This record gives sequence, C-alpha cells and structure tokens, in this order.
Amino acid sequence: MKLTLFTALFALIALATSAQTIRSGEIWPDTDGRHINAHGGGILRHGDTYYWFGEHKSDHTSNALVGVTCYASTDLTTWRNCGVALAVSDSAGSDIERGCIIERPKVIYNPQTGKFCMWFHLELKGQGYNAARFGVAVADAPEGPYRFLYSQRANAGRWPMEFDAEALAITDTLDIAHFQQWWTPAWHRAIGQGLFVKRDFEGGQMSRDMTLYVDDDGRAYHIFSSEDNLTLHIAELADDFLHHTGRYTRVAPAGHNEAPALFKHDGTYWMITSGCTGWEPNEARMFSAPSIWGPWTQHESPCIGPNANKTFGGQSTFVLEIKGETDADEPRFIFMADIWRPRHPSDARYIWLPIEFEAGKPVVKWRGGLTLQ
Ligand code: DGJ
Repeated sequence: MKLTLFTALFALIALATSAQTIRSGEIWPDTDGRHINAHGGGILRHGDTYYWFGEHKSDHTSNALVGVTCYASTDLTTWRNCGVALAVSDSAGSDIERGCIIERPKVIYNPQTGKFCMWFHLELKGQGYNAARFGVAVADAPEGPYRFLYSQRANAGRWPMEFDAEALAITDTLDIAHFQQWWTPAWHRAIGQGLFVKRDFEGGQMSRDMTLYVDDDGRAYHIFSSEDNLTLHIAELADDFLHHTGRYTRVAPAGHNEAPALFKHDGTYWMITSGCTGWEPNEARMFSAPSIWGPWTQHESPCIGPNANKTFGGQSTFVLEIKGETDADEPRFIFMADIWRPRHPSDARYIWLPIEFEAGKPVVKWRGGLTLQ
C-alpha cells in the first residue's frame, strides 16, 4: 500500500515536472492531451499570451486538409488548442481549396490597424510546388478566424534595391536560353547577376519557405526562398502589413537556402536557414548583417552536439524572442525547428532549444529538456 501511494506521488511529481519541461523530439501534448499540430510554425505574443500558429498536418498527407491551427499559452510550455485559425476552402478553384499546400504560416500584429496579419507559403491544389506563391489573411482577434485575402508571387515588375544602372545593364545581356545547365560557373555567375529575377520579373518572384519579422522601428519584412529556392529575398511590407512595398533585397544568390528564421541581438540581424533536401534534415546555416538590407555574411552552423550536422534531425522554422520583464533585462531567444515525418506528417515533432551567445555569435546546443520558468 505504502509503495502504491509512493508510486502515485512520484508519478504526480513527474507529471508536474514534465508539464514544465519542453522535450525536443518527443510528443508534446496540448491541454487536451493531444500532440500539438502546428508545424512549420511561428509565435506571436499579444498581451500576456503567446499564440502559436502552424500547419495542421494530417496522418497520411502533408497537403492542407484543415488549414492553419492556433494554440495559446502564457508559459510557452502548456498550450491550449484554439482550433483552426485559417480554414481551407471547400469552393473548387479557391486559392486555398482543401488539398492545396499551406506551409510555414506566421502572424504579426499591426498596431496601426489593430489587425492580425497572417502570411504563409501557398501552393495551389494539384500543382505540386509550381505556383510558389505567398498567401495573406487577416483577423480582428489573434486566434482568428482569419479571412483569406489573396495569393500571388512577389514584387512583380520590381528589381531588387541593390540593382543599380550597371547591374540592370548586365541583366539586359542575360539570356536564359544560354543557361540550360545548372551549377556551372557561368550559370552561378548569371544567377548572382539576376538571371531568374529577370525570368520572373513580369509575373513576380517565386515565394516559398518564409517567415515574417517586425523590427524595433515597427517596419515589417517578409523573408522567403525565391528564384527556385536558390536565393532568399527580404521584402519590406507596407504600413498595413498586408502587401509588399516593392522594396526588396537578395541574400546568398544560388546559396540554396530554405526555412529562414530571423532575429536581432545587440543591433545585429541574425538569420538561421537550412539547405534544400526536401523533408530530410541537413546542416543549418547562419548569416548576420548590420542592417536588414545587408550586407549578409555567412557563418558556420550555430548547432553543437549530437547530430548537429543535421540540425538535430530538424529544420528551422522560427526564432522566438522572449523579452525581459524590464527593458534592462536581456531578452532570451528560442530556436524552433521541425522534425518532419513525411510518412506520418501529423507525427512530426518539435525542437525548441535556447540560443546562447559565445564570442558574440549565436550557438544552439542540444538538450533533451528545456525549462523556461
Ligand atoms: C522543405 C521545406 O522547408 C518544407 O517547408 C517543405 O516545403 C518541404 N521542403 C517539402 O519537401
């Protein structure tokens, strides 16, 4: 009897302890006891509550059968399912028709309009990854419901900000017919000079893996894999946070980066990305810049520990900044990544690890448990 009581007490303590600990790579139950279903996600803090938005994944397909989910928490560890924030549509031909692909949704709040603005990577139903669009939706409350506004490619008819007269004269000479073979030195140079920017100039730039970032001055940016996933674009958002302004820059042309996650520490912009290997993990990359407009410098992967050269089996999705109680307190940063399970998509797992700074550079060390209190 004593033993049973002791065992029960121990189990209770273990449960209470585990409820406070985030265990990367394991099942993460919400307050209903179900594994959180918010993949490729990002987090918005509004008031005292954190809102986690992500892709709802089904058991047998990664296509969107439900939409974007939302969870709420005040401690970042226990999450309440708020349901579907943006639902897929049942109207045939809708951009977000059930069966389309919705990935990496992110939400930011616009204090000027009082609206919650959701951006995501959208692929039209039945077209594989060829549409390469972003989608935008808006809501009056953080958990939604979000109203789908539009989807399109990015910055049609606009050249990158850094393309001066000389660079534009070079684009005049680029002929895509001369570059059928990828990865040759000449092709590489031409990509840097804007071969694919020119190809997509009229119809708009391709827009796949993405994140959003709101800077200290209130300006917001859309960061996405463009040019056939070869080059990242950072595009400024208009005051309403629902459109681009047309100002954008390119990062790491032909660098083949996906999964961008951006944050700022002590005035330096940092971006963690992945390579392009589908659902398979690869080694994270890291870049820094003194301004969001660059110049961006590449560094070694920030990951350290077992399986670090495969980002611990995951792929970056977001860096969460946890601000201190007062302005004097240092903020903390959490690296968020997904461990994809393409054969059983809803079983995909999460990696949440603290970002530490060593010699001024971000470092992410593997640990099985993270206690945030
Ligand atoms: C890698 C991307 O980062 C994911 O979001 C998803 O698009 C997969 N590729 C699909 O293979």
